[in-house]
Amino acid sequence: MKPRLVIVGASYAGLQLAASARESGHDGDIVLIGDEPHAPYQRPPLSKGFLTGSFAEERLPLRSPAFYGEMQIQWMPSTRALRIDRERKQIELHDGARLAYDHLALTTGARVRKLDCKGASHDAVYYLRDLRDARRLVERTQTARRAVVVGGGYIGLEAAASLRQKGLDVTVVETEARVLARVASPSISVIMQRAHTRHGVSLALGRKVVAIHDVADGVAVELDDGARLSCDLVVVGIGVLPNTELAAGCGLDVAGGIVVDACARTSDPSIVAAGDCAAFVPYWAPAGSAACRIESVQNANDMARTAAASVLGRSEPYRAVPWFWSDQYDLKLQMAGVNTGFTGFAMRGSIDEGKFSLFYFRDDRLVAVDSINRPQDHMLARKLLSTGTRLSVEDVNDPGFDLKAFANRDAGVAHGAAS
Ligand code: APR
Repeated sequence: MKPRLVIVGASYAGLQLAASARESGHDGDIVLIGDEPHAPYQRPPLSKGFLTGSFAEERLPLRSPAFYGEMQIQWMPSTRALRIDRERKQIELHDGARLAYDHLALTTGARVRKLDCKGASHDAVYYLRDLRDARRLVERTQTARRAVVVGGGYIGLEAAASLRQKGLDVTVVETEARVLARVASPSISVIMQRAHTRHGVSLALGRKVVAIHDVADGVAVELDDGARLSCDLVVVGIGVLPNTELAAGCGLDVAGGIVVDACARTSDPSIVAAGDCAAFVPYWAPAGSAACRIESVQNANDMARTAAASVLGRSEPYRAVPWFWSDQYDLKLQMAGVNTGFTGFAMRGSIDEGKFSLFYFRDDRLVAVDSINRPQDHMLARKLLSTGTRLSVEDVNDPGFDLKAFANRDAGVAHGAAS
């Protein structure tokens, strides 16, 4: 009998894992289980073009229907895995059926963190994670005029920009003193705050929502300073929680995520995990660091490739450079690397012209680059970060320095020492 790979969770990581396993030579069954009725689809447009109306629903699927047949991937929509029986190597599904596996992959993703205050379950309160959420929100925006967005992370800011572009009045409420505090440097926060203010969004920073009141013409969002923001709809984007229940229920190690090693293997040799649900110590973290999760499309795809290799018995430690993007108004923000603990930065381009990149250094080493409307810098940064090529602050600050030529040189003979 050829081995059967069962994958629980049909979004980016699950689909990539299925495709990579097949492409790398897995010749047994591949079963992809998803609890949504739709084939795996793109999520980033949901808070951007799908919400503004510029990105049609037909464009969302990640693969054509023919792909699943060609790759012999059995996709099971609207199917929920309830339990994992590791002893028998079986999964119990929502309808009582049992599915045997030889290899199991958990790509269960994350769900939204719910707002916890009086009135939070009002039907004017919306979340934005999946297509169903997005369709509901789009429908509401047809008639709404005023929105309050709770959370100034990427979801909140992208939703704010999209709603503003649709002509709604928008206020963003964020508990931290700056937007994107969890994920971006203070400089990027300031730039994004300015962009939102310029486009007419009101920002309530350092403020907490204490209650949502039902009022005659919509709702009133009460803040901890007593302010009441009247609106027709509330969009909440206050982070996500990993879906770890299946893993915890069968005794796998779970600590803020399903714990995996550098090859995406869980504490059970037959089970891998990848994407938003998986916690690991990334290659760039100092030794002894706690496992963490990375919430991005890049992480889902790259980690799934590593997990597929493990399913096939190959050890290919996950070492991809992290990258991320966000589109808000006319700003394309692209980030490469991880700037945690940076000790200095240098800039190329011009903030006034709205096209620039910030290069972050930890001691003498380039660790991350954030670009706004400089896509070429972003691509070059990913190259430099993956080869470990040395670049100096002086190089970056020199307007005559040819970054492209530098990055395209062989890492081994690049200017300065290559590590
Ligand atoms: N009121 C206001 N703001 C809050 C509250 C609250 N009660 N609780 C949290 N926040 C703020 C946080 O300070 C943070 O700035 O909400 C923001 C949430 O940001 P993220 O944690 O980055 O989460 P979110 O924007 O929801 O994105 C969820 O989707 O696209 C992906 O990369 C994105 O992985 C992220 C995920």
